[in-house]
Amino acid sequence: MSPVSSAPNSTIRIALAGLGTVGMGVLTLLKQNQGVIQTRTGKTLEVVAVSARTRNKDRGMDLSGLAWEDDPVALAKRDDVDVVLEMVGGETGTALELVETAIRAGKSVVTANKALLAHDGMRLAQLAEDNGVQLLFEAAVAGGIPAVKGLREGLAGNQIELVYGILNGTCNYILTSMRETGRGFDAVLAEAQELGYAEAEPSLDVDGYDAAHKLTLLASLAFGTELDFDKLQVEGIRRISAPDIMIAEELGYRIKLLGLARRLADGSIEQFVRPVLVPQSSEIAKVEGVFNAVVANGNFVDEVMMVGRGAGAGPTASAVVGDLIDLARGTSVPTLGVPCQNLVPAKLAKSEDLYRAVYMHLSILDEPGALAKVAEILGRYEISIASLIQREGRSGLPVSLIITTHEARYANIRAARAELDALSIMAEPLHMMIIQEL
Ligand SMILES: NC(=O)c1ccc[n+]([C@@H]2O[C@H](COP(=O)([O-])OP(=O)(O)OC[C@H]3O[C@@H](n4cnc5c(N)ncnc54)[C@H](OP(=O)(O)O)[C@@H]3O)[C@@H](O)[C@H]2O)c1
Repeated sequence: MSPVSSAPNSTIRIALAGLGTVGMGVLTLLKQNQGVIQTRTGKTLEVVAVSARTRNKDRGMDLSGLAWEDDPVALAKRDDVDVVLEMVGGETGTALELVETAIRAGKSVVTANKALLAHDGMRLAQLAEDNGVQLLFEAAVAGGIPAVKGLREGLAGNQIELVYGILNGTCNYILTSMRETGRGFDAVLAEAQELGYAEAEPSLDVDGYDAAHKLTLLASLAFGTELDFDKLQVEGIRRISAPDIMIAEELGYRIKLLGLARRLADGSIEQFVRPVLVPQSSEIAKVEGVFNAVVANGNFVDEVMMVGRGAGAGPTASAVVGDLIDLARGTSVPTLGVPCQNLVPAKLAKSEDLYRAVYMHLSILDEPGALAKVAEILGRYEISIASLIQREGRSGLPVSLIITTHEARYANIRAARAELDALSIMAEPLHMMIIQEL
C-alpha cells in the first residue's frame, strides 16, 4: 500500500485533530504556503475535517468550511480522509486511540507527540509497518529542526557514534536567563511562565522528561535500537542555583540541560538527560534562550550540528508540513529508520565503569578541619581535585565549597559522594554535575 494509497491524483485529504498551538500553526502554514507546496509536490494538501475539545472557540481563523468531529477518533474513520494529523498531545487516551485507529484504517499519520512515541512508539511503528502506512514525527523532536530526517535520511549512510543536544527550550531559556540576570531558578521560572515559555505545570520540562522523550527517539534513530524510555537516566534543572551558574562561568564552563547518547567501543550505549557543564568555547554552549540544537557525529560525515527553534506554532508547523510533503511525494521510510524487526535492544553502558570529571557544590558548616575531611574522602577514592573555590557566606552561615575533579571512575565518585553527604559538617546534600568535554 502506498503512503497515501486512497488519495486521488492531485489532492491529499487531511484530517486535523487538535487546534491548539501546533494545529492552528499547520492550518496557517498550509494556507499561506499553498503555492510553494503545490509547486514542490504537484499536489494540493487540503484539510477537510478537524476536531478539538471545544467547537465554538474563537481560533482566529474561519473554520466553517471544514467538517467537524466532536470525537477526534472519528476523523480516522472518515472515507474522505487520506492522512491524519495527531496534534492533540498526551501519552495515552485520545491521542493513542486516534493514532491506532487511523493506522488500522490504512491512513498514514503525522504526529508531534513525543510522549506518546517514547512510550508506545515500538508498538505503533510495528502497527504502521503491518498496515503499510507511514507514521511520521519530525515535529516531535526539537520542533522546527529537521533532526529526525537528518538522522534517518541525510546521515543514513553513516555509523552514528554520538548524538546529543539541547532538547528543551524552556530549560534552556531558564538557564540562559539565570546566567544573564543572576536570579535564582524559582524567579526565572515564574517569569518564563508569565511570558508563556513555561507551562503552569512545568514538571515535564524542568524535570527533564520532555527532553528524555526526545532523546529516546533520537537514540533509536541513531543506533537502530528499540525505544526504551524507562532505562534513561533523567535529571532536571531544579537544583541549579544562581551561584552554580556564576561559578561554572568563572571556571570556563556553561551549564546546559543536555540529552546525550553515545556508542562506546564495546558497543554499549551511554545515555542520559541531565544538566552538565560544557566548555564555554563549545558550539553547544552558544545555543541560548529558547533555541534547541541537535548534534550528531557519524563515522564518515564527522560532526553535524543543527540549531533552531524547538517549539512554537511556526517551527512546529514547518516540521509537520515537511512530513506531509514527504507523504505527498510518496516517500516511504520506516518509522524509526530501520524495519522494526531489525531494531535491537540497546545494551546500556554501566555508568559506574565510566570515567568522568565532575563539579561538586558542597554547602558546609564553617568548622576547623572541614576541608581536610572532604579532601581525605576524595583522596581515598582516587579522585584528584582540578580546582577548588571557597565562598564565605555571612558569619555563622554555611560556606560554599566548589570542587571540580579530574576524570575518575564514576563508581568511586558515587561512593565518595555518599560519604561526603554523610558528614556532619554538610549543611545540605551535595550538588554534583558532570563536566562534559564536547
Ligand atoms: N507547542 C509546541 O510548540 C510543540 C512543539 C513540539 C511538539 N508539540 C506537541 O504537539 C502536540 C500539541 O501541542 P500544542 O502545544 O498544540 O497543544 P495545545 O495548544 O494544548 O492544543 C491541544 C489541542 O488538542 C485539543 N484537545 C485536547 N484534548 C482533546 C480531546 N480529548 N479531544 C479533542 N481535542 C482535544 C485541544 O482542544 P481545545 O482547543 O478545544 O482545548 C487543542 O485544540 C503535543 O503532543 C505537544 O507535545 C508541541
